[in-house]
Amino acid sequence: MAKTVDVTMDKIIALAKNRGFIFAGSEIYGGLANSWDLGPLGTELKKNIKDLWWKMFVENRPDVVGIDANIIMSTKVWEASGHLKNFNDELVECKSCHERQRGDELEADKKKKLGDIACPKCGKKDWTKPTMFNTMFKTNLGPVESPENTVYLRPETAQAMFVDFPEIVRVARKKLPFGIAQIGKAFRNEITPGNFIFRLREFEQMEIEYFITPPKTKKDWEKYFDGWLKEIHEYLKALGVDMKRVKDTEVAKENRAHYSEKTVDIEFVYPFGQKELYGLAYRGDYDLKAHGLKYKDPETGKEFVPHVIEPSLGVERTILAVLLSAYTEEDAPTADGGVDKRVVLKLPKYIAPYKVAVLPLSDDERLVELAKDIWNGLREKFVADYDDTQSIGKRYRRQDEIGTLFAVTIDFETLEDKKVTVRDRDTMKQDRVEIVQLVNYLQRKLEISH
Ligand code: GAP
Repeated sequence: MAKTVDVTMDKIIALAKNRGFIFAGSEIYGGLANSWDLGPLGTELKKNIKDLWWKMFVENRPDVVGIDANIIMSTKVWEASGHLKNFNDELVECKSCHERQRGDELEADKKKKLGDIACPKCGKKDWTKPTMFNTMFKTNLGPVESPENTVYLRPETAQAMFVDFPEIVRVARKKLPFGIAQIGKAFRNEITPGNFIFRLREFEQMEIEYFITPPKTKKDWEKYFDGWLKEIHEYLKALGVDMKRVKDTEVAKENRAHYSEKTVDIEFVYPFGQKELYGLAYRGDYDLKAHGLKYKDPETGKEFVPHVIEPSLGVERTILAVLLSAYTEEDAPTADGGVDKRVVLKLPKYIAPYKVAVLPLSDDERLVELAKDIWNGLREKFVADYDDTQSIGKRYRRQDEIGTLFAVTIDFETLEDKKVTVRDRDTMKQDRVEIVQLVNYLQRKLEISH
């Protein structure tokens, strides 16, 4: 059985669209550049990815609490945090065809100076001088468009964890070190979005700001930094991400965000190259200081500004890495003794959108009625699909392609012996299980450790 490691973006995009994971947004109006909507399976997958993160990093930990803050925050937040001044990308425009690009990225990608780089659209080497473009989305609060009413959609979820810090210290009764976590939308008016859901203008982040006592030595903060790097790897393993394609790269000083004293990019080898998946940053005391916030030690009464370690994970990039890692092509035997190709999304059990699918062998009314009864019983316990269209072989293939862990088939014998066939997605092995034992059987198989 051969696993295809070099799955192309075309295959992933086609599967995502055909099977209802992800498709272009606003499609009936010709689409909106780089906006992608999640279909029923994509929504379930994303929810599972976020739930696993929340479980591993908030619920399972004694030292992290969650918040859910507004996307629009006071403009003073962005003044103080430095985003209004510094959250810029270097914009260049081709003088010939007006293609817009990020100058810094072009130079980094091609390892050449801008003047020697051909426009990817028209091939000319004639760019405007770089200008700085602030990538925060602007809007107005209330009906009047005026400078005083200008507000911004948050470009990172992080700032709420800093701004709400005093309130969380008051209510959560946590002592340092402790973290504040949030999952939510962030917006960036990216100059060059693209590569499917890799770079978007609207996306979600899963972020933790982990507050520590001001370190006396480098070692004092590095131990937390290294600890979080390990935790990120554990999360990726739990998601079934192919760890051979995960590379940690320290970001050079000149390429770090304005607030960062050290950043490690957790990169993934996508079909379009090795690029950032997540970021881990040591933000020092930059943010709390910028907002004029302090922490009072409950034991000593001393006031000081905690330092911060920040693991920052993008949800859509996680979805992409998960799909690319799970996508498998295998030789599978056909009913007549031949060999066929099957595509299987080998998603871990916690992440798979459907845990089980119920499939009556044919559209015979007796089978359909019993299958629906069984489906109704299973849905109380598991996210379950039902399908009575097409041949059983095609339905198995469809369930394999969407990563469903078990397929339960109801056949004519079931009417006699009250047993169903349960097929395992990965081994394709089939067990005959009594209907009354089915929930137990699946629960045992699906036992989830996180
Ligand atoms: N609070 C720190 C921060 O926002 P970042 O490296 O700019 O750091 C963190 O972003 C993560 O958010 C990235 O590693 C990536 O997973 C995700 N991300 C950032 N920009 C994105 C975009 N335009 N589209 C999709 N995901 C993005």
